[in-house]
Amino acid sequence: MLDDVGRKINYLRISVTDLCNLRCRYCMPEEGILKKKHEDILRIEEIEEIVAEGAKIGIEKVRITGGEPLIRKGIIELVRKISNIDGIKDLAITTNGTLLKQYAKDLKDSGLSRVNISIDSLNKEKYKKITRGGKIEEVLAGIEEARRVGLAPIKLNTVLIGGFNDDEIEDFVNLTNNENIDVRFIELMPLGQASRWAKEHFISNIKVLENFPDLVPLCKEDKESPAKYYKLPMGKGRVGLINPISSHFCSSCNRIRITADGRIKPCLHSNYEINIKSLIGQNIKLSDILKLAIKSKPKEHIIKKDEYEPIIRNMYQIGG
Ligand code: 5AD
Ligand code: SF4
Repeated sequence: MLDDVGRKINYLRISVTDLCNLRCRYCMPEEGILKKKHEDILRIEEIEEIVAEGAKIGIEKVRITGGEPLIRKGIIELVRKISNIDGIKDLAITTNGTLLKQYAKDLKDSGLSRVNISIDSLNKEKYKKITRGGKIEEVLAGIEEARRVGLAPIKLNTVLIGGFNDDEIEDFVNLTNNENIDVRFIELMPLGQASRWAKEHFISNIKVLENFPDLVPLCKEDKESPAKYYKLPMGKGRVGLINPISSHFCSSCNRIRITADGRIKPCLHSNYEINIKSLIGQNIKLSDILKLAIKSKPKEHIIKKDEYEPIIRNMYQIGG
């Protein structure tokens, strides 16, 4: 379905929980968050119904996010259900990878196509610090297992944080030299926990290009991806830059999002939401609600480095 400015909206991102087993400093408060009541989050069957309704109006790609989606009870069942919906061609998950060793095989067998794994440092101590206690060995084992079972291509997501991991850009980029892996650098966005943080720690992705002038820009294979891709001259994998702050990709935005508590967010950077959970089971077509959300997508967002409308939701509620 086309939105009001002619963008084809075919991608739905669903957060299945706002809880996480890590506490990344820019994302979660140290003490964690209050667990929502069971009845306040979307049930597995409700998520399935929303996706099925979405498929009727042209949703073809789905991504499951969190919090950490692999801690949601019933996640394997949900993957199986969504991958069986007519019209859904691509189903992926964004995870911190800590539980992937355990789940990768079942996810693959249930119809998952791919995984994106969030990892902000390759150094054991630094990883532990930024995640407030995470064990990098678990993530590395998860990446290995995902690769073994064929959840490919594997994409790593790294949020660039000034004074924390800007000295690791080279190590991340070099991962793409010998392995068929995509490393994507994401600019720190001023949302929720990070709204105070972002000003101090923001660094532009341009820094990656400054450090690696020999990165070769690739033609956009996937026009809908917000990442611009590059390659090292002899590299096997790709380096992606996702620049929500230094350059907008609103004009090619193809997605809507749903939070774990059942609110549709037409735009990540707007506080406008539609409560679809409250409308389930009413005498109203969910596909009409999704259409309404698509029609209300703003043309573009207005965040810039120093100037933005504060976003109330935290990233753990939206899932990136
Ligand atoms: N800015 C940019 N990326 C963020 N993420 C979480 N919070 C932010 C933020 N403020 C990332 C996570 C993960 C993805 C889901 O979103 O690190 O890679
Ligand atoms: Fe969890 Fe991801 Fe947030 Fe880290 S960034 S606390 S892994 S949801």
